[in-house]
Formats: sequence, structure tokens, C-alpha cells
Amino acid sequence: MVNLKQGDCLDLLESINDVLVDMVLTDPPYSSGGLFPGDRKKKTSSKYTDNGYNGASRFLDFSGDNMDQRSFTEFMRMVLAKCRKKTKPAGICAVFTDWRQLPSMTDALQAAGWIYRGIVVWDKGNSRAIPNRFRNDCEYIVWGTNGRRETKYETGVFVGAGCYHIAGMNSREKHHQTEKPIELLEKLVAIVPEGGTVMDCFMGSGSTGVACVNTGRDFIGMEILEQYFKVAQNRINEAMAQINPDII
Ligand SMILES: C[S@@+](CC[C@H](N)C(=O)[O-])C[C@H]1O[C@@H](n2cnc3c(N)ncnc32)[C@H](O)[C@@H]1O
Repeated sequence: MVNLKQGDCLDLLESINDVLVDMVLTDPPYSSGGLFPGDRKKKTSSKYTDNGYNGASRFLDFSGDNMDQRSFTEFMRMVLAKCRKKTKPAGICAVFTDWRQLPSMTDALQAAGWIYRGIVVWDKGNSRAIPNRFRNDCEYIVWGTNGRRETKYETGVFVGAGCYHIAGMNSREKHHQTEKPIELLEKLVAIVPEGGTVMDCFMGSGSTGVACVNTGRDFIGMEILEQYFKVAQNRINEAMAQINPDII
């Protein structure tokens, strides 16, 4: 089952009444670098892509990326609190963030009522080299649970890695400025059993949905911008057709 909704997730989350999800896996606009008014007004292309390089300038800028840290923390708290209400007891919340917004995200997750469990590291291995500095090679997945989650030491039980070394996407292959690799998302949704439901309320070009289709999970996706919503629909439909050619 795939259920895609276009609009502001703060509104759309109210309309999910018939299901509780097993996992919220989402990649919000990071609002990164928003210390000064000028930073906050920058286009997402100038913040997150080497525009013009490898064709990155073809991507549409996306919205919701111009908050300062306090506002971003509060916005994420509101979204994640609504997500928690739509999640099964013991369900998972996993949210992408960068090094700047890591403290905001861990605050927001906890203020939204999730039990904070840790940080998974995504080593994308291709950040910009800046002289006399350490490279920011990694992004992070802050995760938590909706209350207690049982741990059972049995064979065959899921055990996820704490760090994934998976190359960031080449702009030539991307559908979105800040697209995440399907391979990484497939490894993250594996914490949910096949047939479980994953929700992404900032789905962009629908990568989480493709990972769910590929691995037999149900998916609920939301995206505010019509153009990216259509890209997500097309990618997810293509993924479904690959798995079951009879559906088209
Ligand atoms: C970081 S991108 C997600 C990229 C995605 N992981 C992918 O692989 O394509 C965040 C997306 O959230 C969307 N967005 C921003 N504010 C939103 C809101 N309030 N509700 C729903 N979507 C929103 C943006 O338009 C953007 O496409």
C-alpha cells in the first residue's frame, strides 16, 4: 500500500486516521547555516549544491529551509509530536540532520515525546575539502522510539549498524537537491518487518517510498511542492512497476 499526499505535513498529519505506522523516517529541510538573516534567505541550491556542477542547477529550490535554530527546533518538535500520535507504541522515529542542526534535532525529538535512542552516522565520503579544517563527511540520523521497545537476543532479529558508509549521490543521477541514496534508506527501513508501514512527511522526490516498495514495506508520503510531489509519484510508480509489471 502506498499513500501519497501533497501539502503541508502539519495539516496532512491530521488526516491520517485509519492507520498507526511502524516507523517515521524523514529528511526535513535542515535550515542549515541559518545564523544570520542573509544565510536564512539563501536559496537551497546555494546552501546544498555546488550549483552548476554536474548539472545541479536544474533542481527546483525547496521550501521550509529558512528558519533560525530556535524556530527550526520548535517546527520539528511540532511535526515530530504529530508523527508520534500516528505511530504504534514501540515504533521508531528516525530523522536526518547535519552537524549544525544535530543539537536542535535531538532536542526536538525528545520534546515531541519520543525516547531518544541515539545517532546513526551516514558517512557519505564526499564532502568539500576546506583548507585548515576537518571535513564534514557525515550526516546523521537521530532516532528514538515511541515508548519502550523490547530487545530480544534471538537469531534472526534485526540488528542495525551504527554507521553506514554509502557514497552521497552524484548530481547527474539525482531527482532532488538533497536526495538520499535508496541503498541507505533500504538499510534503515529494515528495522520494520516486511509488511510494516513507514511514513515520510518530507518525502521530496520520494526516495523513502522507493526503498519501501523495493523491500516490501507500506508507505505514507507527504510533500509540500507540487513539482517534487509529481517526481515522487513517478519514481514510486516506476519502482512498483519494476516489482510487479502487471500493475501498469
Ligand atoms: C530535504 S528534502 C527531502 C529529500 C528526499 N529525502 C529525497 O531523497 O528526495 C525536504 C522536502 O520537504 C519539503 N517540505 C518542506 N516543508 C514541508 C512541509 N511543511 N510539509 C511537507 N513537505 C515539506 C521540501 O519541499 C523538500 O522537498
